[in-house]
Amino acid sequence: MENKCIVLGVSGGIAVYKALDVVSRLKKHNIDVRVIMTKSATEFVTPLSFQSLSQNQVIVDMFAEPKAFEIQHISLAKRADLMLIVPATANIIGKVANGIADDMLSTTIMATKAPVVFATAMNTNMYENRIVQDNMCKLRKYGYKFIEPASGRLACGDLGKGKLQDTEIIVEYALSVLNENKDLQGKNVIVTAGPTIAPIDPVRFITNRSTGKMGYEIAKEARDRGANVTLISGPTNLKAPFGIEVINVSTNEEMYNALLNRFEEADIVVKSAAVADYKPSEYSEKKIKKSSQGLELNLIRDRDILKTIGEQKKNQIIIGFAAESHDLIENAQSKLERKNLDYIVANNILSKDTGFGTDNNKVTIIGKEGFKLSLEKMSKREVAKNIFDLIKGR
Ligand code: CTP
Repeated sequence: MENKCIVLGVSGGIAVYKALDVVSRLKKHNIDVRVIMTKSATEFVTPLSFQSLSQNQVIVDMFAEPKAFEIQHISLAKRADLMLIVPATANIIGKVANGIADDMLSTTIMATKAPVVFATAMNTNMYENRIVQDNMCKLRKYGYKFIEPASGRLACGDLGKGKLQDTEIIVEYALSVLNENKDLQGKNVIVTAGPTIAPIDPVRFITNRSTGKMGYEIAKEARDRGANVTLISGPTNLKAPFGIEVINVSTNEEMYNALLNRFEEADIVVKSAAVADYKPSEYSEKKIKKSSQGLELNLIRDRDILKTIGEQKKNQIIIGFAAESHDLIENAQSKLERKNLDYIVANNILSKDTGFGTDNNKVTIIGKEGFKLSLEKMSKREVAKNIFDLIKGR
């Protein structure tokens, strides 16, 4: 996201301090962040904090002496690739919806042609007030976007809807609006991610080290490129990404059913889940008690989900993953052929700073026509980008 500029509008609510985290997260993506605060926002947090994190001058006063000759609200409105309002109070929403431009933030919103996203945060009763709802409805019609607040305990002690959405989700949303590449527009993409579990008794189960990170990044990349994404996820600690239908499953059978039910409508399936190949031959309804003897578990083969969809494939593009500890290319190549895939993404699971649980991966992508692309170590998101670039390019 080099050279992109987000004008972050901060209006006055208790959630102002969370906007600091938004600035710092955006900076990590190399975004030029320009902050405009309303006067009331400065009652909660001083401009200095925003200035230090954004490394840019913060603007509050319409009539402050500008550094160079420029009309600041116009130059910022033009410079913005996106305006992101965090938190967006009932007041700023009401002003914009009714054409009021009486301070730096409201005038800049009025003057910009960039997309404007409001991350709302307010008391539940305010949020549910018909006037606020009508204002949001009107703005939506004009193309303004809203990040819905979350539910929870609010600063006033009330329980309900109105909490500022998670900052990670706000940033993810902003980056997805900035992404101009919509080459998967309208495509149905199914991604499987995470491990599956094979239950032994009500307490124990067998599983593997997959954390789901790779699959979640693939799903987000497809979403940002305009696809309708379904993410079939085994148990993970990851947050459900916005704008993606997430189907939570645990066992091989549940993942199989969820995928098979949707397979016909899919254009692209990326199967990054680490599916359990074996399950106990019998599930014990009661907790297995320990004895002085050892315990033998009899395991039987479970379904190969990818092989099944490979057999049923019509026009779908199917991408599998191969987690290998040795003979990477040979093993991946053989899986590609056995499972009738279009591509396979091979990674060495023994490498320390890539693979399971890490943010990076180092993969080789093999295509069915025999071509091979070995990528350097890169973030899992970059790997996801490369996978979709490759499919589009071919
Ligand atoms: N896969 C699947 N169902 C299984 C096992 C694997 O759908 N029961 C899929 C995975 O999602 C992945 C690909 O098959 O896309 C390869 O998975 P991997 O675990 O590397 O290989 P396996 O086929 O299980 O073979 P092996 O364990 O012998 O390496």
